[in-house]
Parts: sequence; structure tokens; C-alpha cells
Amino acid sequence: MVPLGDFKPSDFWQTHINSIFYGIKGTQIHNHFQTYASLDHRLAHALADDFYAEARRRHPENKIWYLQEWGVGNGNLAACFLSRLRKVDSDDEVYPFVHYILCDESAEILKAARANPHLQKHAGKFSTVRAHAEHLDCFRPRCVSKIISNEIWDDLSTKILLKHQGLYYEEYLCPFLDADAFPADKDEFLEQFNDRNLAKLARLPHFLDTIHWERDFQRVSLDDWPFAKTLQEHAENFADEIPMPVNIGAFSTIAKAKELLAPTNFGYTGFDYGMKTVEDLNQEGRPYFNLYGGQYTFMVNFPLLENVGRALGFTEITREYQNQFVEKNLGSASISVVDLVQCHPQVVDMAPWDKDILMLGSINALNTVYRNPYAGKLNYPAADGTPKKQRKQIAQLAKNLSSRGVPDTVAYVTKEEIFAALKPLRKLGYREKDVHSAFQSPPPPISFVHIQFGI
Ligand SMILES: C[S@@+](CC[C@H](N)C(=O)[O-])C[C@H]1O[C@@H](n2cnc3c(N)ncnc32)[C@H](O)[C@@H]1O
Repeated sequence: MVPLGDFKPSDFWQTHINSIFYGIKGTQIHNHFQTYASLDHRLAHALADDFYAEARRRHPENKIWYLQEWGVGNGNLAACFLSRLRKVDSDDEVYPFVHYILCDESAEILKAARANPHLQKHAGKFSTVRAHAEHLDCFRPRCVSKIISNEIWDDLSTKILLKHQGLYYEEYLCPFLDADAFPADKDEFLEQFNDRNLAKLARLPHFLDTIHWERDFQRVSLDDWPFAKTLQEHAENFADEIPMPVNIGAFSTIAKAKELLAPTNFGYTGFDYGMKTVEDLNQEGRPYFNLYGGQYTFMVNFPLLENVGRALGFTEITREYQNQFVEKNLGSASISVVDLVQCHPQVVDMAPWDKDILMLGSINALNTVYRNPYAGKLNYPAADGTPKKQRKQIAQLAKNLSSRGVPDTVAYVTKEEIFAALKPLRKLGYREKDVHSAFQSPPPPISFVHIQFGI
């Protein structure tokens, strides 16, 4: 194994690797993971409905409601937000006065978002700005009405803190590559990698997911950390020996939001995954990082973000599970299709391709009742390694998917939709009691969470 650099605090390597990931992969990021906003519309619709209800009763100071989204992916959230707003605003009270600014660090991502056909239907109502979410120095303070971000904090700088017998230790990381796995001449590659030479790195064979990470913990004093006093108070609640994410990049976005929000504003709404409560933080053995196709993400410490928000002067802060936010909007209990599939009595013993077949069968079953307001067929290729017979079956099931059906495997579906499709679901082996239990299972210590910072 050859080190690609020195051991550094985890936020150093995490941000280094993620800027390479987004910089060279562009829209292909969604081949590695889905988000609740990248194909589904229900989160965006809930946001648009809330915004409409608030904005129609008020007037923007400078005639325009400027909305910003930070970390925009394929632009689907913006597109569905604007489409929903235009639809519900039948009296033209809000949509004509909205301008939506999509901000992202990656030029590749923004290029792809601008090409999103659903977003193009709102030409003139949106613009894109290349900016780092932690800095965003290109905007005047107090000029933004609402800020939204989905699954960006987990990408931003995060330090990892460990408490042991009253002392604090910080996680250090170092990336390694197998000596035989270098995608180019070793010295040239090391230079390109360390300089983040995106143009050159993008031309190399895949290497991000072959990186092996070593970790180490070193003694640290919290005095110089951002929001040291808030952090010290928060850390008093830490159980010993459990790695705690300290999402310092997210702190910066909250501080930036405070600076940018106009006197009449609808706050900063963030969605991400992580620990909602201190009990979740202290849950032994819970994961604290994730690697997807080479991207390095850290779970979000929501109780700490709330404390930081209060220290910054946000007075109205609410935290809830993300599906609760969607449920309020839909007026019905909701789970994602993945959650439904997880409650199938045989799923734990299934081979990965059989899970794909079950997923596709479940979506086709739900499509007998589900109506997507947007046209677009879910692309569901068989994964590498799928045997020929199952590959054929997957292709057939994928071909049968409706273009007005459930848009994603993580799309939200309501209890009514699931029970209305119970007959075809039963044919796939689901039992009614399992479906009920899917709506009753307690949230895991790592969950999708909605947090709202209001002033
Ligand atoms: C996990 S993706 C989520 C995309 C989208 N919000 C969604 O939910 O589908 C993270 C997004 O944040 C962007 N991003 C990552 N680091 C960033 C930074 N420091 N500043 C601005 N954008 C960043 C990436 O380019 C990507 O578009």
C-alpha cells in the first residue's frame, strides 16, 4: 500500500476527495447514490406548498423573493419546487415574484442542472452560481428570502471527535492505494491527486473507490475549534469512545444563512442524514461515515447544529424526521419504497438480483394506483454480476415500468397508496402485518432529518 499523502484531520481528506468526486463525475454521481430529491418530487412539493402558504401573505422587500438552493445535484428539487409553486399559485401571487438561484461548487453539476428539461420549463425564473456553500461571498447580505439544502452537510468539512476518560481525541485519515492499482505513473498521479487536477484525473480509469483509508486518533484541545464554547457544552453529553461528527462545514453554512437572510425571510431548511437526538449520538456502534463510489460522507450531528444555530441567533429551530415533514404535506403516513421492500418477509435472505426483482415488482404493483404528476420512466439496469436469467427478468420488469409511476426506489409512498396496491403486493409475498409494521418501526439512530432555522 502506498500513501497518497500524510495523515491529516478527517475534514482535510474528506473535502479533498469529495471535490475530486464531484469535479470529475458530474451527473454520474447519481449512479453511485440516490437522494430523496434527485428523482422524487414529494419533498420539493412539500417545500413549495409551505413556501406558498407563507409567501402569499407577505411582500418581498425588493419585489423579488430570492430563493437559494445550495448543493443542487441534477436540479430536480428546483424544477419540482418551481413547477409545484406555479401550479398551486393559480392567482399569480407568488410564482411571478420568485427567482431561484442554484448554487454549487461543481461546474459540471451546474451544467447538467441547467440542461434538466424539467428545470428548463422555468427559463428566466432561475439562475446558477458556482460557489462554495461555506463561503458564498458573491451575495449581498440580507437579500435572500429562503435557503434550502438537501444532503450537502454530509459532504462538507467534518471533524470527528472522540471522548475518552475526560480527554478529547480527533480522527486523522490517510488515503492509500495498492502499489499495483495506480491508474497512471505513480509520481504523475500523486501530483495530479494532490493538486486536484480535475481535467487530468477525469481521464484516468476509476480510482476513487479503490482508495483504502487508514485512521488514527490524536489528542486535541477544543479551544481552537469553531464554536468552541457551544461544542464544549455539547461534548459534555458524549458517551466515551463513540466517534462524534462535528460538521464544521455545516456550521459555516448556517452562519452564512444568518448573514444572507433578508429581514422578511422563511429561514434555512436543511435535509440530511445523521443523528437526530443525543441518544442517537450515544448509540454504541452506530456508523459515522459512508463511502459511495469513492465519495466520503459523514453523518450529521443534528443536536449540535441546533446549538450552533442558536448561538448564531436563530431563535426558531425545529427538528423532525424527514418523512414527518412529507407526511404533514401529504396528510398521510408515508415511507419510501425501500422501506416497504425491507419489510418483505424473505428480503433478508435474498440474493441482490432477487432484491432488484422484488423492488421492480413492488414498484410495478404500486404503479397500479400511483400517479406521478411528472413524466419520466425510472431507469433500472441490472447490477454487475447479475445472472443471465435474472438479468432478463429485470430488463422485462424495467420495461413494464410506467412513465407516470413511482419515480424512484426512494420515492415516498403513502399508506393509502400501499394498501390500495395490497392485492398485487400480496402476490409478491408481502403480508399485511409486515406492511403495518413498516409504518411502526422505531427510527434507526441514523435517519433522514429535516431541520429548519428561523429567526
Ligand atoms: C449528495 S449531492 C446532493 C445533491 C442534491 N441536493 C440532491 O439532493 O439530489 C451534494 C451536492 O452538493 C454539492 N457540493 C458538494 N460540496 C459542495 C460545496 N462545498 N459547496 C457547494 N456545493 C457542494 C455537490 O456538487 C452536489 O451537487
